[in-house]
Amino acid sequence: MTVSPRPPRSRLDPEPISRRDWLGLTSLWTMTGALLFGLIGMMRLPKAAVLASPSKTFRVSLPENLPPGEPFVPPGRAVAVFRDEGGVHAVSLICTHLGCVVKATAAGFECPCHGSHFAADGTVTRGPAPRALPWLAVRTSGGAVVVDEGTVVPAGTREA
Ligand code: FES
Repeated sequence: MTVSPRPPRSRLDPEPISRRDWLGLTSLWTMTGALLFGLIGMMRLPKAAVLASPSKTFRVSLPENLPPGEPFVPPGRAVAVFRDEGGVHAVSLICTHLGCVVKATAAGFECPCHGSHFAADGTVTRGPAPRALPWLAVRTSGGAVVVDEGTVVPAGTREA
């Protein structure tokens, strides 16, 4: 028995790929594409909004034209700072019901969550808030007011 030699293949006629190799290459490219899409998807995920918590003690420069008894709410803080003839004081704006931030109104403060009302001195005028808004420690330093959100003082405590 003689074996006839195969004719030499031309460059324009590549060697056919076996079915097994074709399936292997297809699965390899599919896996590579899936990994690539997965990585792109992960890069587009929202980043965690973790911010450093601001210090509980901060300085406030009250406006010169702040009328006596008018609240001044520093931007980004849940504290109302007042200046009147008795001195300076600060009231927390965190509702004592479930912790919403109350809004200043002409009559005092109003909670947007469940409708509690507070007088300007923080006392509850309408529930469901169980307690008055706490007064916070303040001190004056170099023409500015330093508020300590972490220290509650008895209502009526003012810094001259
Ligand atoms: S959180 Fe303010 S009334 Fe409920």
